[in-house]
Amino acid sequence: MLVAGNWKMFKGPSAAGSFCRALRDADLGDVDVAVCPPYVSLADAVQVLAGTEIGVFAQNCHWADEGAFTGEVSPAMLKELGVYGTIVGHSERRQLFGETDESVARRVKAALDAGLNVIACVGETDEERETGRTNDVLERQLSVLEPDDGLVIAYEPVWAIGTGKTATPELAQEAHAFVKSQIDLPVLYGGSVKPDNAKRLAEQPDVDGFLVGGASLDVGSFAAICQAASTS
Ligand code: 13P
Repeated sequence: MLVAGNWKMFKGPSAAGSFCRALRDADLGDVDVAVCPPYVSLADAVQVLAGTEIGVFAQNCHWADEGAFTGEVSPAMLKELGVYGTIVGHSERRQLFGETDESVARRVKAALDAGLNVIACVGETDEERETGRTNDVLERQLSVLEPDDGLVIAYEPVWAIGTGKTATPELAQEAHAFVKSQIDLPVLYGGSVKPDNAKRLAEQPDVDGFLVGGASLDVGSFAAICQAASTS
């Protein structure tokens, strides 16, 4: 079980440092834990969490080592900082910043080649689910990825992100099983994971952990989710 907290555009360096100091002392149960701060807060998180088992992930990374790519950060730069991995292809990147299956594939490959671990995100929109296209969308998004020891998939239905509308455990299980039929990798669930729904989701056989947004911003609720996943 891996429980990763995607902080999105929250917590600058000083808030990240305080959060990580508190996390170091929290009871996180028996799961792998990671935090994914914004770029500017990665160094503080790496420093505070050095010597712990908690991994620090970026939220994205470019495919080139360096170059004229304003606003981007390379896998080599993340490695230099001591970052353990990166999220790639989050639906907010796909929907708001024009990320495509092809650019996601390039970023994933480059990050893995550089020795970073990768959480690659897939998931359907509300409209795609309503029109019966969920599996087609997942199949398309996964078709550009290849299994790798450093890669895990996060299934994040877009309609469940930040909405409080969590997928039911049955629906999550069904989607995770489909993802695994396409690519043989661990699959995290993301989308309104909270301390009170984490246990039942984690009990599903094909749910291998969580990618948590809002509820990862508070040490207490993040630790409670880790504990719920740990006992499942
Ligand atoms: P929420 O947990 O806030 O719904 O966000 C999920 C997510 O996007 C994690 O990457």
